[in-house]
Amino acid sequence: MNAPSLPSVARPVAAAPAVAATPVATGFGGTLSEGVAKLDINGKSYELPLLVGTENERAVDISKLRAMTGVVTLDEGYVNTGSTTSAITFLDGEKGILRYRGYPIEVLAEKCDFVEVSYLLIYGKLPTSDELNSFGKMLSHHTMIHEDMRSFYGGFPRDAHPMATLGSVVGALSTFYQDSLDVRDPRQVEVSVHRLLAKLPTIAAYSHKKSIGQPLIYPRNDLSYCENFLQMMFAVPCEEYHIDPDFADALDMLLIVHADHEQNCSTSTVRMVGSSDANLFASISAGICALWGPLHGGANQASVEMLEKIVADGGNVKKYVDLAKKKDSGFRLMGFGHRVYKNYDPRARLIKATCDKLLAKIARHDPIFDIAQQLEEVALADEYFIERKLYPNVDFYSGVIYRAMGIPVQMFPVLFAMGRLPGWIAHWIEMHHSPSQKICRPRQIYTGERLRDFEPISKRV
Ligand code: ACO
Repeated sequence: MNAPSLPSVARPVAAAPAVAATPVATGFGGTLSEGVAKLDINGKSYELPLLVGTENERAVDISKLRAMTGVVTLDEGYVNTGSTTSAITFLDGEKGILRYRGYPIEVLAEKCDFVEVSYLLIYGKLPTSDELNSFGKMLSHHTMIHEDMRSFYGGFPRDAHPMATLGSVVGALSTFYQDSLDVRDPRQVEVSVHRLLAKLPTIAAYSHKKSIGQPLIYPRNDLSYCENFLQMMFAVPCEEYHIDPDFADALDMLLIVHADHEQNCSTSTVRMVGSSDANLFASISAGICALWGPLHGGANQASVEMLEKIVADGGNVKKYVDLAKKKDSGFRLMGFGHRVYKNYDPRARLIKATCDKLLAKIARHDPIFDIAQQLEEVALADEYFIERKLYPNVDFYSGVIYRAMGIPVQMFPVLFAMGRLPGWIAHWIEMHHSPSQKICRPRQIYTGERLRDFEPISKRV
């Protein structure tokens, strides 16, 4: 194949220092050293390196803090902790900027397809047409799953959530494809990358077919990535299935905008699991589990379910905005707010525009799209949401498009996982390539009992 080889995951013998003495920009995870930060602990002063990234994000390097001072940092939820340097995705949550490998998301969504964006994220550069051609062929070549794996689907209960099925079957890839598990062999890693990208749509579509009791449809290698997924989702053996090119285009855009988002919960999970040298299939399976939660990838499902509830309740948008403002209600506007974006999520803007176009094209009136727009309008004019900088996020409108395509609500997080896959892979490879890579092992502040005397069971009350 013509695609450049992935960077070797073998680590150099002599690890490079985490911070260069003089300012240098290295490719992977490059940072500039920018003087020192001073820290006072109980009257004693310490100097810590101050680093700056290529977009002027600044960080205090505390990697030697405990060795120097005996003190660790505490940051629950990693609100303020950089877990790594990374050269894959830049996002500025204050300004609403998102770029993959330096290219704005708006440009990539307009000019590339998902396979090209996957190549960019994983190989670090836009492909030439030969490279894209052979990468695409490689993905087509691996679309089928081992025939014995198909029988797994018979064992899952029919009402199993497709994310549960997806995570299980992806984990099971390591039982069927044992010839590509060595994390130190770049060729084996590359084969695993191709297998994952090619097979995930097949595994995902089979999860859906199983849940509705229809026969599993084999992939078709003459179709594009998204067309093939749609035919595996919706075709049946007894009649012709016509793929709507606008649906395929909308799906392509949705996968692109989900493809990476730097150190989010699932990506950090993939990096953390991979840091123990767990193979790529196992690491990605862990990422799928992390993505499933309603505060992360499950939010698109939660968001549509909330919109449906508002429609069923008479469409009183203000009532729900007011409810979300009451702390004791336990209710939040799903699809609103983001840990990093304190501005309009640029992905939400792209999705909203596609949603508008798609609904107009198919001349379908969807009351939940109207409610979503009203909800956005009311919330964005409300002091509570303005003060807290709560804007619609990527999940707010994506569900409306999926619904228009006939994709059931439970499949929404599965589609998110398909989109996020190249980002997870790129981070897993980058993590292994880093000269300063170590197993991820956070510290803690113990708050439990001090040393206690053991009581024999007969004396316990
Ligand atoms: N509705 C109402 N109030 C909200 C919402 C919301 N959706 N989101 C945040 N707030 C409020 C909080 O109550 C809090 O108020 P306070 O300062 O008065 O206590 C303030 O805004 C800050 O919220 P936090 O929970 O501290 O923000 P955090 O960064 O931890 O959470 C999160 C971000 C989890 C995304 C949150 O906004 C949320 O729960 N949103 C709804 C779920 C959702 O849409 N998740 C998808 C995220 S995108 C993704 O994962 C792909």
